[in-house]
Amino acid sequence: MTRVGTRALIDASRTAGIGTAALNVIQIEHAEAIVEGAERVGAPVILQLSENAVRYHGALEPIAAACRNVAEQASVPVALHLDHATTAELCHRAADAGFDSVMIDASAAPWSENVAITAEIAVWGHDRGLWIEAEIGEVGGKGAHVTGARTDPVQAERFVEQTGVDGLAIAIGSSHAMRTRDATLDLDLLARIRARVAVPLVLHGSSGVSDAGIAEAIDAGITKVNVATQLNIAFTGAVRTLLTDDAGLVDPRTYLGAGRDAVARRAAELITTINRTHAQQEEKVGIA
Ligand code: G3H
Ligand code: ZN
Repeated sequence: MTRVGTRALIDASRTAGIGTAALNVIQIEHAEAIVEGAERVGAPVILQLSENAVRYHGALEPIAAACRNVAEQASVPVALHLDHATTAELCHRAADAGFDSVMIDASAAPWSENVAITAEIAVWGHDRGLWIEAEIGEVGGKGAHVTGARTDPVQAERFVEQTGVDGLAIAIGSSHAMRTRDATLDLDLLARIRARVAVPLVLHGSSGVSDAGIAEAIDAGITKVNVATQLNIAFTGAVRTLLTDDAGLVDPRTYLGAGRDAVARRAAELITTINRTHAQQEEKVGIA
C-alpha cells in the first residue's frame, strides 16, 4: 500500500526542483494504466478525477473507490486529487471518499465569489488535512475559459493571500484538450507570477505543450503538471486500431486492454519528463 498525500508529493518536488505529474482518470483502465506507468519508471504520480469524469459515471464514489484501491496496491507513492470541481458538495464527497486534495474551480465566477468559495473550501480542507488548489485567470478551452487568457501576477498574489490556497492554477498560454503539442508558454509571465506567489503553481492543459515546453515550465516555476488529453489520444488510438483491423472482435478485454497498455506507455513517458531535474531537463530539451 503506497498512498501518499498530495502535499507531501508537491513539497518533495519543489524541494527537488522537479514537477509532479497529475494524470486524469476516466475509467478504471486509466487508473490501472497510470499507476502501471508510474511503477515502470519508479516515480510517484497523482491520480486525478475531474468533475466531468464524475458526471460521466453519474456518481463520484464508485470510480473514486476504484482509484483508491488501485493507489493502495501501487508500489510507488500515489495521491488522489479531485480536479476542476465547481461545487463544495463534490469536494466534500471526494474527501469522504479518501481523496488527498481538491481543486475548487470557481474561476468562471466574479472575483469576489471566486475568493469567497475558495477561501471557504481552503478553511474546510485544511481542517481535514487536504491540499487545496484553485484557479485565477482562465486556461483556454474549458467552459468559460478562453484561449489566450493570461493570469495577472498581482491578482494572483492577492488571490492567494485572500484565500489561503495551497496551489494555484495559472493561465500562461496552454489550453485544455489540445491534440497538437504546439502551445507556446509565456515563460516571462510565469517568472513574474513565480516571483509574487509563494505557493506551488499548476499547469493545466499540458497535453498541448511539448516535452521541452513542460521541462522549461518546471524550470521556470511550475510544480504540478496536469495531463488528460494525451492519455485519451493514446487510449482511443489503440482501441480504434484494433476495432478497425478486426470487425469480428467483441471481447472488450481485448481492445480495452490495448488502450490500457497504450496509456501506461504514455504515462511512463510523461512522468519521466515531468520528474526530471533541471540538468536532466536541459538534456531532454535538445531531443524533445
Ligand atoms: O485539469 C486537467 C488538465 O488541465 C488536462 O488538460 O486535457 O489539455 O491535458 P489536457
Ligand atoms: Zn485543467
